Amino acid sequence: MADSEEAFLPFSRPTLSEEAIAEVVACLRSGWITTGPRVKQFEEALRSYVGAPYALALSSATAGLHLALAALGLMPGDEVITSPMTFAATLNTIVIAGGRPVLVDVEADGYNIDVAQVEAAITPRTRAIVPVHFAGVPVDLDPLYKLTRERNLRVIEDAAHAIGAVYKGRRIGSFGDTQVFSFHPNKNITTGEGGAVITTDERLAADIALTRFHGMDREAWNRFGKQGSAHYEIVAPGFKYNMMDMQAALGLHQLPALEDFIARRTMLAERYKERLADWPQWQLPAAPRYDHRPAWHLFAPLIDPEAAGMDRDRFMAEMKARNIGTAIHYRAAHLYPYYQDRYGYRAGDFPRAERISERIVSLPLFPAMTDADQDRVIAAMADVFAKA
Ligand SMILES: Cc1ncc(COP(=O)(O)O)c(C=O)c1O
Repeated sequence: MADSEEAFLPFSRPTLSEEAIAEVVACLRSGWITTGPRVKQFEEALRSYVGAPYALALSSATAGLHLALAALGLMPGDEVITSPMTFAATLNTIVIAGGRPVLVDVEADGYNIDVAQVEAAITPRTRAIVPVHFAGVPVDLDPLYKLTRERNLRVIEDAAHAIGAVYKGRRIGSFGDTQVFSFHPNKNITTGEGGAVITTDERLAADIALTRFHGMDREAWNRFGKQGSAHYEIVAPGFKYNMMDMQAALGLHQLPALEDFIARRTMLAERYKERLADWPQWQLPAAPRYDHRPAWHLFAPLIDPEAAGMDRDRFMAEMKARNIGTAIHYRAAHLYPYYQDRYGYRAGDFPRAERISERIVSLPLFPAMTDADQDRVIAAMADVFAKA
């Protein structure tokens, strides 16, 4: 077996405590492994951490985006504005909910949607905006909400990367309309797979409580228990997007660790920035000028192919050959064939996103990563560029 010097260093790895593992085992032994008391407890913990009236735990953030968008009751031709710099799920769920994704390019010096360009993309068919807090950097929400309030538009924040991020002193989820978190294993906290919708809208919360589980009224998941009723009514055609207690068992121990996780991610990100500051091969992620705390879900600089003597994909292959994992988050969504074929998007439509799409690389960043791991990444990069 390779020693730790040679072991593959992934770009991300979840940190699961022994207590979290014991909680999953306890859940397995309890005889109740699907949606139940641990999910309720996790939702309560989420509400209290975020400071929001409603939190609904789900099987994924994709499910959350789908349900929040489906609740809008989009009609053919209705438009939803979002960013091309996102994961496919953001656009896919808009389409599946019956909307047309309308893209707006990102800022000149960041990865988030350029809020200044959103107004020009609004038409009489626009129903909602889905801003994406890319890498856990909060979108400039004050001007965005000012605009959407004036225009009576819904905002569903794709906060898959952003649990724990803070915008002008307020946690993402603690204000605004609706937010969707992801608890996928690469995210800042994990439930295996999982997600949650946070909202201030009582009606939306009630709607999602139904549609996430077949459209059953009441706490129908409990119908096999002593307190449960064997009967239920179907009051809407719902999905099967509930979170399991096995997943919530992890979440109950991940959430209290989130602040420590973010603190460690921040230290590592700051260390990357310091060490790489003078490297001509990298354009480091720029911080927005407004007051914020990024969640540092990703440390994703842009490679300069000329200075590096190679493109992004070759760099990634060279790092892999040195036993170091990197990743692409993401290729710009409008470059995928489905969006080109169906909506006529073309290369050249969103030049800022395309430049990022070609150059972005996620370097290893996770709470259990040591300074020595990070030094290994930096030494490997120096070696890759020296041999280019
Ligand atoms: C921006 C963004 N939105 C949505 C999702 C979907 O999250 P999930 O995997 O929990 O469905 C992801 C997942 O990586 C994402 O990066």
